[in-house]
Amino acid sequence: MTEEALPTIDFQQSISTMFGTPFVSVDWPDVEEMNQQIYDLVAAEEQSDDQGRGIRSNAGGWQSRGNLLMRSDPCIVRLKQMMETTIFELLGALVRKDGSERTFTLLFDSWANVCRNGNYNVVHSHPNAMYSIVYYVSSGEPDESIPYSGMLELLDPREATTFIQVTNTILDARMFITNRPGRMVVFPSWVKHMVHPFVGNGVRISIACNVNVVEEVRTSRPQDFEVAKSSRR
Ligand SMILES: [Fe+2]
Repeated sequence: MTEEALPTIDFQQSISTMFGTPFVSVDWPDVEEMNQQIYDLVAAEEQSDDQGRGIRSNAGGWQSRGNLLMRSDPCIVRLKQMMETTIFELLGALVRKDGSERTFTLLFDSWANVCRNGNYNVVHSHPNAMYSIVYYVSSGEPDESIPYSGMLELLDPREATTFIQVTNTILDARMFITNRPGRMVVFPSWVKHMVHPFVGNGVRISIACNVNVVEEVRTSRPQDFEVAKSSRR
């Protein structure tokens, strides 16, 4: 072969990632009043809970019962609208653009998390859900001298990705999220995550939510499916 120059190729059109994991981080504006109302609502719930709930992933702190989004308080109704919009936008970005119209229904379960100095959430995922949302209401006052204080960390489940790789690329296996009031993040519910110990003053409040997406299948009718019935004693 002669040493002719290689043809020019636009490699940006040739490079993509495989096995992608969708992730959304959006900072909602003008949420101060809404966040204050949610803060007051959650504080009142915690005050009136004489069982000291600790039933999910929290180590210390407090987590509310589920179905928070079913409340009719205006601040909660607005938060639910924001979550619905975010999930629908995500679905719009994910579905293949083949010209077909698709209709989705969202099923929510949500709860409040309250962290104070020393509290954290152990590594966990959210079973029986498709997407998980975290919305930050209050950041508290994390001690800036303590690394990771109160930060959410999402963990890449593919352990092999850390074996050999070029560091400091878009493929880094640890993702950290700072609690910023108004910030909403979405990730698949199977992604393991944790909240590092909150060290500081004040109260760190977030609203967590699990979402299941049900698609309306327009081409099929109930009678098109075989129905399996089971009865057990
Ligand atoms: Fe979680």
